Amino acid sequence: MSQNIHQNKVIILDFGSQYTQLIARRIRELKVYSEIQPCTLPFDELKTMKPGGIILSGGPSSVYDPDAPQVSDKIFELGVPILGICYGMQLMTRILGGVVESSEEREYGPADVIMDETSGIFSGLNANSEPLKVWMSHGDRITSLPRNFTAIAHSKNSPVAAMRDKTGRFIGLQFHPEVAHTPQGMDILNNFLNICGLEPTWTMSNFIKSVIDDIRARVGADQKVICALSGGVDSSVVAALLHSAIGSRFFPILVDNGLLRKNEGEYVREIFKKHFQRELGFVDAGEHFLRKLTKVEDPERKRKIIGHEFIKIFEAEAKKLGKVEFLAQGTLYPDVIESVSFKGPSATIKSHHNVGGLPEVMGLELIEPLRELFKDEVRELGTELGLPDELVWRQPFPGPGLAVRILGEVTPERIEILQEADAIVREEIRASGLARSIWQYFAVLLPVKTVGVMGDERTYENVAALRVVDSLDAMTADWTRLPHEILAVISNRIINEVKGINRVVYDISSKPPSTIEWE
Ligand code: XMP
Repeated sequence: MSQNIHQNKVIILDFGSQYTQLIARRIRELKVYSEIQPCTLPFDELKTMKPGGIILSGGPSSVYDPDAPQVSDKIFELGVPILGICYGMQLMTRILGGVVESSEEREYGPADVIMDETSGIFSGLNANSEPLKVWMSHGDRITSLPRNFTAIAHSKNSPVAAMRDKTGRFIGLQFHPEVAHTPQGMDILNNFLNICGLEPTWTMSNFIKSVIDDIRARVGADQKVICALSGGVDSSVVAALLHSAIGSRFFPILVDNGLLRKNEGEYVREIFKKHFQRELGFVDAGEHFLRKLTKVEDPERKRKIIGHEFIKIFEAEAKKLGKVEFLAQGTLYPDVIESVSFKGPSATIKSHHNVGGLPEVMGLELIEPLRELFKDEVRELGTELGLPDELVWRQPFPGPGLAVRILGEVTPERIEILQEADAIVREEIRASGLARSIWQYFAVLLPVKTVGVMGDERTYENVAALRVVDSLDAMTADWTRLPHEILAVISNRIINEVKGINRVVYDISSKPPSTIEWE
C-alpha cells in the first residue's frame, strides 16, 4: 500500500487573488500537497478535509465592502496554523477584533520591509538585519492589532507589514511571499510549513505509487480503458501511468487528423513502440478531416467540425475493442480550479478540449489521473516515469491542430507550407537553447499575399506570422523578447526554404487582450 500523500496538506482558501494558484504551486514545490478551495467552502467540509495548515489568499476587495468575501470565525478554533496574506491578513485582523482602515498611501510594487524579529515565520532570514525585499499590493492597512497579536515587521507605509499571535500559529503578511519579486518568499512559506509541522511527502515518486493503486482499485480485471493520444505531454503521461497500472487492459488510440505538425503522427507511434513495446491504435483520417473542412473559414466552425469528427472516428475505433468502460483524460489542476474558483469560470472565448463530448456519447466513466497536478508537476512526473525529454518538454498543441493556425480555408497545400515553416521555427528555437523557457513557439499562415523579390523575379506569396510567448499556465501570456539574431535566422530560413512564403512578421501582442492562438 502506498503512503497517503494527501494526509499532509495545506488548504488555500481563495478570496479571488490573481496569485492564488501561485501559492498552491509554491507549497507543492516545497513538497507539501496543497489544494485551493473557494472561500465560500462550508466550514464543516473544510474541517473534514483535516488540513495541517490553512492559507487565506489575497483578494481584490476591502474587508469592509458590503459584499466582501468572508470566512467562518470557527476556522480559528480548528487548532491549525493559519497564514493570512494581504486581504487574508486583513480579514484575520477584522475577525479577531483588530481594525483595518483604508490608507491614503497605497503600496503597490517592490518595497523594503524591516523585520522586528527573526524567528518563527522569519526564521533564518537576513541575520545581518538587512531589509526584506518584498512585493506589496494593497490599499488598506492595519491600524489596530487583534488582542494577543504583535507586529513583527514594518515598512515605510505599513506599521504592521507582518503580525503573529502569541502562540506564533496565526500569522499575517501584508506582502506576497508567493511571487518571484519577494526573493525570500520560499523561505517564508517553508517556515510556515515548519510551524504546521508538515512533512515533505508530496513527491512525484510517491504520487506515482498512489495513483497507480487508485487506478488498479477502480478498473476491474475484465474491464478496459481507452485514451486518445495526441503526442502532447499530458496524454503521454496519462498513457504511461495507465500502462504501468493495468498493462494490456489499456488501449491508447491516436487519430491523425492530418492537422498535426510535420512527421508528428510517425513520431508518436515510434516513441510509443519504443517506450511501451506495443503498437498504438492508429487511424489515418487526414483526408476525411480535410473533406469536412472544405470551404470552411470560420474558426468556431472549424473547431466544432474537428471535435465532432474526432468523436465519431474515436467511437468507431473503440467499438472494435468490444465493451469498454473507461476513458482516460489528461485534465489538469488549473482546469479543476477554474471550475471551483471564487469568481466563477470566465466566459468561453474559444471552445477548447475537443474530446469534451466523448464520455456522454459513449457512456464512459472518466479516469483523470492528472487532475491534481500543475503542468510543471506533469513534466516532473513524465521524467520520473522514464519518458524521453523530447516528449516531456513538448509545447502545448491545440486539439484542432494546424487548422487554427491556417487562417481561412484549410487546404493540403496550406497545411504543407505551414508544417515546413513551423518545423523551421521549432528547429531554430531548439538550437538556441531557449525551448524550455518559452511556453509556445509556432508559425501561423496568413491568407494575405504580398509582393516580394527573389533573385531577379517578382514574387507574390503568403505571409507567415511568428507567435512566441512566455506564460505560466496559458491564462495570461506575454510575447517573448526573442534575440534579433534568432528572429533573423528564422525569417531567412523560412523565406528561403519554404515555397509559398515570402514575408515573415513577428506577433507582439500579449494575452489579454489577444489570445495565444490566432483563431
Ligand atoms: P488561447 O488561444 O485561448 O490558448 O490563448 C490557450 C492555450 O490553449 C491552447 N488551445 C487549445 N487546446 N484545444 C486544446 O486542446 C483547443 O481547441 C485549443 N485552443 C487553444 C493554446 O495552444 C494555448 O496553449
